[in-house]
Amino acid sequence: MHREDFPMLKQDIIYLDNGATSLKPQSVIDKVVDYYENYSANAHRGDYDISFKVDLEYENVRDLVKDFIGAKMKEEIVFTSGTTDSINLIVNGFFLNNLERGDEILLTKMEHASNIMPWFRVAGETGAIIKYIPLDDNNFVTLDNIKKSITPNTKVISLAEITNVVGDIRPIKEICEFAHERDIFVVVDGAQSVPHKKINVTDTDVDFLAFSAHKMLGPTGVGVLYAKYELMQNIEPINLGGGMNESFDTPEKMVLKDVPTRLEAGTPNIAGVIGFGEAIKYLNKIGMDNIEKYEKNLREYLIEKLVSIPHIDILNLESDSGIVAFNIEGIFSEDVAYYLNKYGVCVRAGNHCAKLTKDVLGVANSLRVSLYFYNTESEIDSLVDLLKDKDKIRNEMF
Ligand code: ALA
Repeated sequence: MHREDFPMLKQDIIYLDNGATSLKPQSVIDKVVDYYENYSANAHRGDYDISFKVDLEYENVRDLVKDFIGAKMKEEIVFTSGTTDSINLIVNGFFLNNLERGDEILLTKMEHASNIMPWFRVAGETGAIIKYIPLDDNNFVTLDNIKKSITPNTKVISLAEITNVVGDIRPIKEICEFAHERDIFVVVDGAQSVPHKKINVTDTDVDFLAFSAHKMLGPTGVGVLYAKYELMQNIEPINLGGGMNESFDTPEKMVLKDVPTRLEAGTPNIAGVIGFGEAIKYLNKIGMDNIEKYEKNLREYLIEKLVSIPHIDILNLESDSGIVAFNIEGIFSEDVAYYLNKYGVCVRAGNHCAKLTKDVLGVANSLRVSLYFYNTESEIDSLVDLLKDKDKIRNEMF
């Protein structure tokens, strides 16, 4: 689908590492270049025409993001540098002040480092306790297991909506409903879900959502923190400085602006945010439901081919997303990735920054194919052809 829009696809490569980052369409690249060539002033600071244009373009993207995820107000959208930055802001700006000794934080062992390490630190600083939700036989999160994990001390559940290794889609709406009846906050890492499925934060009722532009056709270095307005107002800024203050005289007399500006100190990634707006327009044009459906079919096609190869061990056969993790019996995943690279095939290998998954999966490393809507069955055929012959892999991997 729409391959002609992606300059990178003119190269002789098969790009199957979309979980790491997506390719960028020409319209996004052009928008970034247009900013640098024609109106590269700062945002929120200038009293001249090109600066007004920057403000308009930048704030317009906030509206686009708001509509894209079904938020109620643009004040619920803060631009960050990425999912990691957003989660760190949620944890250090909100939970550091709202957790106490003995409070429980519920995570899973399938989470990415950025949804575990900030919680480790906040647990250390507050005396809160990290607990892991047990997973079912497919390594999925079930509402039943969440129910079993919750105690009167549970204060927050923080989960990826789609995990970056197993690629299971978590029942976020049901989790929020259950959690909110018990005054438990729900934080969602949307890095692998927002680019691939329709999201509506008002419908699911999540309290906080973090995601990155670069995994959804946008520039690198831009992310989003969504928080319900009343929660957003209670996030303490981590960064103090220009743009986010009304006035300051002494340490006691600092007046900060309202959100979202309060949480965007310093010059933001203007080109990145403006380019991100173009990415959202592009995704809207295709339609997120179409993207989800297309990827689901492509995943089924890939799985059907991979299961027919006896030396391939698929780690997430039952998942629904475009993420497929597997190993070739007896060959280290990174060696397979180097072999595939010789043929221009780009996949990720290793632990995928989710280093606790080994406790659950029993293996520390895997190959990961992560699909997007511009991938094709013919690309999958080429990948599968390369994986069929184990001796060829062994002979050519170095
Ligand atoms: N989090 C990204 C991945 O899963 C980088 O590859």
